[in-house]
Amino acid sequence: MKTIHTIQELKAELSAARAAGKTIGLVPTMGALHAGHASLVRRSVAENDVTVVSIFLNPTQFNDPRDLERYPRTLEADCALLTECGAQIAFAPSVAEIYPEPDTRHFSYPPTDAVMEGAMRPGHFNGVCQIVSKLFSYVEPDRGYFGEKDFQQIAVIRRMAADLGFKLQIIPCPVVREADGLAMSSRNTLLAPDERAIAPQIYAALCASRDFARTHSVALTREYVEARINAVPGLRVEYYSIVDADTLADVNAWTDAPAVVGCITVYCGKKPIRLIDHIHY
Ligand code: PAF
Repeated sequence: MKTIHTIQELKAELSAARAAGKTIGLVPTMGALHAGHASLVRRSVAENDVTVVSIFLNPTQFNDPRDLERYPRTLEADCALLTECGAQIAFAPSVAEIYPEPDTRHFSYPPTDAVMEGAMRPGHFNGVCQIVSKLFSYVEPDRGYFGEKDFQQIAVIRRMAADLGFKLQIIPCPVVREADGLAMSSRNTLLAPDERAIAPQIYAALCASRDFARTHSVALTREYVEARINAVPGLRVEYYSIVDADTLADVNAWTDAPAVVGCITVYCGKKPIRLIDHIHY
């Protein structure tokens, strides 16, 4: 595997591959790679001739500087994992390489980017669109792979890609979970042992709510999930939204949309660490 730090070198490498008729898969990441990322990379390797994995802790999508500061950085281990997964290129640029000038572009795709994470983390999806659109234009991938754990992020990226006319196929990949159900996330390593022990209660509540929903309204199901998680000392629900899986607009009845998904954010522990998850109804 080649590790590349500049856009120029990346483009040179990829234009040679494209001229040779090779297909290109892109897996954008912020590093601190885990088995969830590995599943995206393995899928890209299976479906494309060349897989590029970007490792870039994108500052413009962090609205909380403390979150950026404590985000785990594990470049050496990341490259070892990517080699094992069979990726051809790790693209690990500096902040100055990506943002020689501040990015002043503004992306807005309501309601998709305005609700839930968009409401709680102002500017977050704007930063995601800034970096992902740059990566799409440097790499010009045939396929882009994104983890469904960030369910809303995929919906926003789809809108951005359609808006800017990127031709790639966006491939959502299922959440990879720990044995006890906790969705894998780079932030999980920040959990203290007692926090890690209670975190699986989030997915347990979401799973239980699927049965509850069969005989109860959307509003009661929302209350059920919130009450069940808030009853666990150390967990606090920030929001639980039950939405149309495509537009992410709130639904009032189960029949309001062809596919309905519940998206949750929970604060865990004293620091606290913010965990997100979702469930399809
Ligand atoms: O999901 C992530 O890790 C990031 O938001 C992404 C897509 C790599 C953009 O920085």
